[in-house]
Amino acid sequence: MEYPDPKRKSNMFGKLLMAAAVTALCIIMLKHSPSFSTPTHFSRHEKGVTHVLVTGGAGYIGSHAALRLLKESYRVTIVDNLSRGNIGAVKVLQDLFPEPGRLQFIYADLGDPDAVDKIFSENAFDAVIHFAAVAYVGESTTDPLKYYHNITSNTLMVLKSMAAHGVGTLIYSSTCATYGEPEKMPITEETPQVPINPYGKAKKMAEDMILDFSKNSDMAIMILRYFNVIGSDPEGRLGEAPRPELREQGRISGACFDAARGIIPGIKVKGTDYKTHDGTCIRDYIDVTDLVDAHVKALQHAKPQNVGIYNVGTGKGRSVKEFVEACKKATGVDIKVEYLPRRPGDYAEVFSDPTKIRRELNWTARFTDLQESLGIAWRWQKAHHNGYSSS
Ligand SMILES: NC(=O)c1ccc[n+]([C@@H]2O[C@H](COP(=O)([O-])OP(=O)(O)OC[C@H]3O[C@@H](n4cnc5c(N)ncnc54)[C@H](O)[C@@H]3O)[C@@H](O)[C@H]2O)c1
Ligand SMILES: *[C@@H]1O[C@H](CO)[C@@H](O)[C@H](O)[C@H]1NC(C)=O
Ligand SMILES: *[C@@H]1O[C@H](CO)[C@@H](O)[C@H](O)[C@H]1NC(C)=O
Ligand SMILES: *[C@@H]1O[C@H](CO)[C@@H](O)[C@H](O)[C@H]1NC(C)=O
Repeated sequence: MEYPDPKRKSNMFGKLLMAAAVTALCIIMLKHSPSFSTPTHFSRHEKGVTHVLVTGGAGYIGSHAALRLLKESYRVTIVDNLSRGNIGAVKVLQDLFPEPGRLQFIYADLGDPDAVDKIFSENAFDAVIHFAAVAYVGESTTDPLKYYHNITSNTLMVLKSMAAHGVGTLIYSSTCATYGEPEKMPITEETPQVPINPYGKAKKMAEDMILDFSKNSDMAIMILRYFNVIGSDPEGRLGEAPRPELREQGRISGACFDAARGIIPGIKVKGTDYKTHDGTCIRDYIDVTDLVDAHVKALQHAKPQNVGIYNVGTGKGRSVKEFVEACKKATGVDIKVEYLPRRPGDYAEVFSDPTKIRRELNWTARFTDLQESLGIAWRWQKAHHNGYSSS
């Protein structure tokens, strides 16, 4: 039997205290060092939890998608460099899901290879939904390189990092602009892709890159080609708030709300001589709530070594004139309409055939009342005069 000698005991106590102090110091140093971080929920795969990287998650569609994923118990990492998105949208999500391991925001530029590689090294993603992009047809015709850089080249960066770090699932945001102006309506997934502006071309190139890559990869890939996205969260937590300097580039819904609020004198309808029933362009308007639902279904149905390509639209075309009428009713404002010549890069008529996505993913558009979708978005606009920076 050994009896502890009291002198040795106090000596050991001192050593323990010292060890504890050194450990505490190390932890403090690690916590404050930018290049080392203690393991978090985000850095380890967890059974039963799907961790999704949402690029562009501070943007319009990305923030709505992140909200839905969080509601469905996914773990979400948002990467955004806020060049076009809103930190206010991220704050809304953080306030709704403050529990550890639910949502993290990383401020980074996807055009920076080191930053992207670091994000993939330090986090254990199960899937990526790649929304981040620049997305204005008009701007793409005046600044094409910005589009090839921020769409095509950045998608290459994301794809390479996913491959290097073994991330198994990619959902890619593509667009009906990749079809150009097909002869035959509606547009199916087999309609030839002949984009006519740099935005559509950059997205088509990104799709081609993904498809070529998929031939020698196990990755589960879904490419979703969205039609024109409108609306916002029916519970009024999120909205669409593009930078004020992008107003001129803006989409028709933004212009309609700005006109209703008197920020701009009226709405400019560009082109009244298209070969359509009332001479204005025809588009397929898809509500963001439905669109986000398609992403969740795509995630659930994604299969390794398989690429699924789907149109996401309502299947019904509406003219710009019809849109403006719905907007007048939704806002209750008699918006002034100015008719102008055509805008370069626009096409007359675009609407989807959503049969494939209904058959294979059991998805169908449910928010198909234009006036109702615009009414929801208008409520958020009215309550947020300066976007996310005011209440
Ligand atoms: N809005 C539509 O009608 C529509 C239609 C078809 C396809 N899409 C596609 O959907 C996606 C999302 O569009 P949105 O309307 O939400 O646009 P958005 O501009 O609101 O969101 C894009 C987000 O990506 C971020 N981003 C851009 N470049 C980045 C970079 N280099 N690094 C990090 N973050 C960057 C921006 O800051 C922004 O938050 C895009 O890929 C777009 O092409 C949109
Ligand atoms: C966002 O990313 C682009 C490159 O895609 C970069 O040029 C720009 O400076 C970044 N903006 C911010 C605010 O970091
Ligand atoms: C896109 O890329 C260009 C460089 O080509 C860069 O200057 C710009 O900041 C990038 N991001 C956005 C949102 O335009
Ligand atoms: C398809 O979706 C509908 C509506 O959400 C649902 O009621 C039905 O059970 C789904 N069918 C299948 C096969 O999952």
